[in-house]
Amino acid sequence: MEKLFILFTLCSIVLVAPPLVHGYGPRGVTDGPKALKHWYKRLPQMKQKVTHLHFYLHDIVGGPNPTNIPIAMANFTAQSPTYFGLIAAMDDLLTAGPSPNSEIVGRAQGLFGSTSLEEIGYHMTFNFVFTSEKYNGSTISLIGHNPFFNEHRELPIVGGSGSFRLARGSALLNTVSYDSASGDAVVEYNVVVLHY
Ligand SMILES: *[C@@H]1O[C@H](CO)[C@@H](O)[C@H](O)[C@H]1NC(C)=O
Ligand SMILES: *[C@@H]1O[C@H](CO)[C@@H](O)[C@H](O)[C@H]1NC(C)=O
Repeated sequence: MEKLFILFTLCSIVLVAPPLVHGYGPRGVTDGPKALKHWYKRLPQMKQKVTHLHFYLHDIVGGPNPTNIPIAMANFTAQSPTYFGLIAAMDDLLTAGPSPNSEIVGRAQGLFGSTSLEEIGYHMTFNFVFTSEKYNGSTISLIGHNPFFNEHRELPIVGGSGSFRLARGSALLNTVSYDSASGDAVVEYNVVVLHY
């Protein structure tokens, strides 16, 4: 009877285990089209989870190796105290600790524009591109309003890829250091993300 039960249990495990498709895995960004289709088919049975991420962004504006560069501005921008109309690109380092020499977890890549007449406020549209072992190749996409000199800012997470496929969530930002001469900043990110 006991043996029968074990056999039954083993059979159930085999039945409920997800089929092995080559390259299949929720983390895989190398999933082929077949695996992607299969992932979406399984979606109704998949449980949403909450992941907390914590890291620091290094925004380098000055010096010979900037990671944040202006692309364009209007004539008006130069006279604007808020740099209204400035568009810039960034490829900022993300690290586990506040020091730029701490473990690298990825990059923050994207565009932002100075879109406030009243304060230094940016419209941001960018991605966290993770390179650390656990989330290597996965991305999180953000779009939001960043009033740079507020102590706390919140940016909405609107999507993602790989581990963060169909992600939603929020990123809380606070500036750890800002050098007004160079414009360089270190920004702490506390991220809460819902994903599968
Ligand atoms: C912008 O400035 C340049 C150079 O000062 C000038 O030639 C041009 O006409 C200006 N454009 C507008 C739209 O004001
Ligand atoms: C991340 O993935 C890239 C490309 O697939 C690989 O070259 C690299 O070694 C990986 N890094 C880690 C930390 O696993």
